[in-house]
Order: sequence, then C-alpha cells, then structure tokens
Amino acid sequence: MKKVISIVGARPQFIKASVVSEELRKEFHEVIVHTGQHYDYNMSDIFFDELKIPKPDYNLGISGGSHGKMTGKMLISIEDVLLDEKPDIVVLYGDTNSTMAGALAAVKLHIPTVHIEAGNRFGTLDSPEEVNRIVTDHTSRLLLCCTESAKAFLDKEGLGNRSFIVGDPMFDAFKKYSKTIGNTQPEDLFDVYGNEIVLPSEFYYLTCHRQENTENEESLKEILKAMEALDYKCIYPVHPRNISRVKSLDSQFNYKNIIFAKPVGYLMSVFLVNNAKKIITDSGGLQREAFFAKKQCVTILDFVVWPETMVNSCNQLSKPLKDEIILKLETEVDFSKCGTPFGDGKSAVKIVELMKRYM
Ligand code: UD1
Ligand code: UDP
Repeated sequence: MKKVISIVGARPQFIKASVVSEELRKEFHEVIVHTGQHYDYNMSDIFFDELKIPKPDYNLGISGGSHGKMTGKMLISIEDVLLDEKPDIVVLYGDTNSTMAGALAAVKLHIPTVHIEAGNRFGTLDSPEEVNRIVTDHTSRLLLCCTESAKAFLDKEGLGNRSFIVGDPMFDAFKKYSKTIGNTQPEDLFDVYGNEIVLPSEFYYLTCHRQENTENEESLKEILKAMEALDYKCIYPVHPRNISRVKSLDSQFNYKNIIFAKPVGYLMSVFLVNNAKKIITDSGGLQREAFFAKKQCVTILDFVVWPETMVNSCNQLSKPLKDEIILKLETEVDFSKCGTPFGDGKSAVKIVELMKRYM
C-alpha cells in the first residue's frame, strides 16, 4: 500500500478531509499532519470529534504571526516529517498557508502532490489565498477541481493535462451531514442562541473572517450596521481573528439584532445554513453551502471565486457597505435553473480513483 501524507491546518480543510480520508484509507496508508494553524477547540478538535476524522499523527503547533513567519515555520517542520515518513504522495487541500507550505516542502523533496480544490482564481495577488493557490497548483502533480470554471483557469495556465473535475468534497460533506441531522436541532443550539427564541427561516446567518473585512474597522462596522437593520435576528459565530474588534464595536454600539456566538461546530453550521432565511458571508465554504441549500447569499468580497453560485443572483458580491448589503439581500432570486455544478456528492470516490490511476 502506498503511503499518503495529508496536510491540514484550518477549519474548512478538516471538513474536506473528513470525507476524503474515509475513501482514501480504503486504498492507501494515510498519515495526517495537522500544522496547528487553527487550534482552539471550536476551530479544530470539534471537527475531528464530530466528523470522526482520525486523530492527526502529527500536530506541528504552528499558528499566528505574519504570513511569511507562519509559512516558513510550517515549511521547516513539514520537511522534517516528510524526511522521516518518506511518503509516496502528499495530499493538499484548498488555499491556506498550510496548503502552500506543504506544497513547497514536498516539491523540494521531489514528492508528488495532489491538490484538492485546485484552479480557483480571484485574479489578484493581493489576496493571500490566491498566492497559495497559484503556488500549490503550479507545483502539484495532480490537480483536482470542484467545478468547470476552476478547470478552465488551469487550462489557461497550461496545467490542463494534469487537471480533472471531480466535484466538491464540501458538497459531499454537506449532503452527508444534512441528511444525518435532518430536522433535529443540534444539542448545543441554546449555547448559540442564548435565551433568544429564534425560529427556522426567521434568522440570518453571518460569518466574516477575511483579512480584507476584519483588519479595517470601518468595513466590519458597516457589515454589523447592515445586520442591525434586518427584519430578523442575525446569528454571528465570530472567528477568533476578529473577536477583539467585534467586542469593542459591540461595547460602542450595543447591537440589539445580532446574536454573537463562539465559532460553532460543523453540524451546527450545517443546521444554521439549512434553516437560515438568508446568508451573509465572506467565506468560500459558506457561500457554496448557501447554494447547496438553495439559500440566497450575499458575499462580502471584491472578487468572484465560485461563479457557479452567482447564477440568477443566488449569490451576489457586495462591498462592505450597509446600504449595498441590504439592497442585495432584497433582490429576487431563482434557484430553479442553477443545476448541479458541484458534482453528485461522490467527489471523494473520484479523487481516490484518480490518485490510484495517476500517482
Ligand atoms: C485561514 C486561511 C483562510 C481560510 C480560513 C478558514 C490563510 C492565509 N488563510 O484564515 O484562507 O479561509 O483560515 O477559517 O491561511 N486564531 C485563533 N484561534 C484559532 C485559529 C486562529 O485565535 O483556532 C487566530 C490566529 O492566532 C491568528 C488569527 O486568528 O491571529 C488568524 O488566523 P489564521 O490562521 O492566520 O487565518 P484565518 O483568518 O483563520
Ligand atoms: N463553519 C463552521 N463553524 C462556524 C463557521 C463556519 O463549522 O462557526 C463551517 C462552514 O459551514 C463551512 C466552513 O466552516 O463548512 C467554512 O470555513 P471558513 O469560512 O472558515 O473558511 P473558507 O471556506 O472561507 O476558507
């Protein structure tokens, strides 16, 4: 059996790895390396527990600091693990600093890599994730795309001969766990709602963690102002990146319509997506999940990264401006002609088949 090292470090990677790892272990010997990039219980262990992901074989404990420092430390530590473990293949997910550090460590040691969620592009190197995507795609042996639009970018960059569309492992996971949860409210629901009574379809779900929206107080203030003006309460699990800024804004403005919560586990997040009236986010994962659940979404970013979700205004970009966010949330949308651009929920099976064939 060939040995695979899967490198993960951030919340969305744990979710994708949960479905891929289950299939991977039928054909390969998998060793999981967690870089430590996300480390709070609610950002990391909760996903391993809820989604029954095998415990990481290594946790490198590297987090925070500048992009260069974090990536540099990861590169050094991942190289040590690769030298000790001598894997045949390295598997990388998405576009975080953990992804790019893994790509660089592996390519320098001539270990072939597979990039899952390859090919997405914003079109600007100002985004740290874009840099991570480009480096990882151009150094990987096998490029596995969620959608046709991602594959088209790789074709344009001359990488078409090693890229395939497999569907989106986030869709696999969302489909699987939406079914598991059904209409049952997760046990920890009241930890999120507090004493508020919030009925299905009578709340909005907000997440916001991008550097672009959180480093600038004005942007976050505008986003929260928009949530304050909505007809129903807004549930907002706050990413640790912006807890202190959110707290300081809340003490100044004493928001009444926003229910602030700790980051929630995946099952709760799936429940919130499936039951929200509408979704407001700057997350790549959440904007897709809104689409999977046929919920209208406003994405507070300057660039389209999942064009398939934007058909019939089902997902619209907005600047971090109160009036624009509200206007976009009021648009009429129609999911009936959106099709199924993210596959059939079996991307993990396709990923493993292609790895067996080409690696
Ligand atoms: C990272 C990814 C981003 C991804 C997001 C998923 C990069 C460049 N960015 O952004 O692509 O969308 O993860 O959520 O890799 N922190 C904690 N506790 C934690 C995790 C983080 O306090 O469990 C703090 C860190 O110490 C740091 C800040 O939050 O100060 C930001 O964390 P970081 O991992 O650098 O970036 P994210 O915003 O999470
Ligand atoms: N999510 C979660 N708890 C939260 C917020 C989000 O489990 O409090 C899930 C969400 O449902 C989605 C994923 O995290 O599956 C998205 O991750 P994130 O927004 O951190 O990163 P991105 O997708 O932007 O890279």
